[in-house]
Amino acid sequence: MTLKVDLMRDQNLRGKRVLIREDLNVPIKKGVVTSDARIRAALPTIEAARAAGAKVILMSHLGRPVEGEYDQQYSLTPVAQRLSSLLAQPVTLVAQWRDGVELADGEVALLENVRFNPGENADDEALARAYAALCDIFVMDAFGTAHRAQASTHGVAKYAPVACAGPLLEEELRALTQALSNPARPMVAVVGGSKVSTKLEVLEALCDKVDQLVVGGGIANTFLAASGSPVGISLCEHDLIPTARKLMQKISIPLPVDVVTGKVLAEDAQACVKLVGEVADDDMILDIGPESAKHLAHILKSAGTILWNGPVGVFEFDQFAAGTKTVSLAIAESPAFSLAGGGDTLAAIDKFGIADKVSYISTGGGAFLEYVEGKTLPAVAMLEQRAGRKPE
Ligand code: 3PG
Ligand code: MG
Repeated sequence: MTLKVDLMRDQNLRGKRVLIREDLNVPIKKGVVTSDARIRAALPTIEAARAAGAKVILMSHLGRPVEGEYDQQYSLTPVAQRLSSLLAQPVTLVAQWRDGVELADGEVALLENVRFNPGENADDEALARAYAALCDIFVMDAFGTAHRAQASTHGVAKYAPVACAGPLLEEELRALTQALSNPARPMVAVVGGSKVSTKLEVLEALCDKVDQLVVGGGIANTFLAASGSPVGISLCEHDLIPTARKLMQKISIPLPVDVVTGKVLAEDAQACVKLVGEVADDDMILDIGPESAKHLAHILKSAGTILWNGPVGVFEFDQFAAGTKTVSLAIAESPAFSLAGGGDTLAAIDKFGIADKVSYISTGGGAFLEYVEGKTLPAVAMLEQRAGRKPE
């Protein structure tokens, strides 16, 4: 498959100022990175640029701070520290970068959170030009942020002398295109998470692509209500019941036959397995039941391709984790090509230790879903526009 973008691996990086946009938006608690999966995913790109003799300038966002205001809890300091130890080389965090970043060949610096810069979110031209002025070559490698048209993902690519895709972005695009363009059948999508409303577009798009759609979490509750089952005080979007009904007419959506309920959403909540028809008025559905999980496992084991985004229950609490565990293990054991993405999904993959048994794990959450929906990712579109061309 040929990508219509220029690639970092085709560039001569020696002695060049190479500005690489990564997605280093990782969870941080009390100043410490709690999951460095995205940092590790970016390492091969950074190491390749360093080994090629580039002056490596990294940039990323972290969280969603108020733009234009420094806020220590959104500082990339902990990320720079983790990067330094993973690379076994100091990575300086640079807050004042507008006059240029002084580096020797093979040295690495990280710019402070791009979302502190006024104009970042609005894709401001002056800011994009200021980033572009820092480099000879701009490398877009942040697949997880490629669905955002912002100054550090989209604008900078317009004005940099050269704009190309890094190895991680390249790998993500190839894996997703391969899985979606000619998928082995049957193709099954597992879409969990709390709300139908945030995943409505992806659910609709998937109806035309997959053979079976498995819904889980709060999303499944809305479908259960649509099929006439009681859902008690579960998370459920009653206004979307007509939408859920329309989707069920279009495609086979297996619904749970049993569920695990609790009276409160809490770590010490008492779990109770019930048939779907027995859910009481004061019950909350917090997981799928064992019969339903067994049925899903069967579907997943006979699939050709699996797309997975979102857990099927509140797996953070052990008494409501069995459904997501069974689904995870079935995906791990399935001979299907499996593709997973999204923050909660990655946390579930970690918790159940199946990382090496999923065919491809995307670093993207929103970007992964938008790609699956068939939307154009603006940062990638800009690289396509720039392929083989001079800047504006
Ligand atoms: C993500 O975590 O999904 C990406 O880093 C994008 O972050 P955003 O949704 O704040 O733009
Ligand atoms: Mg997000």
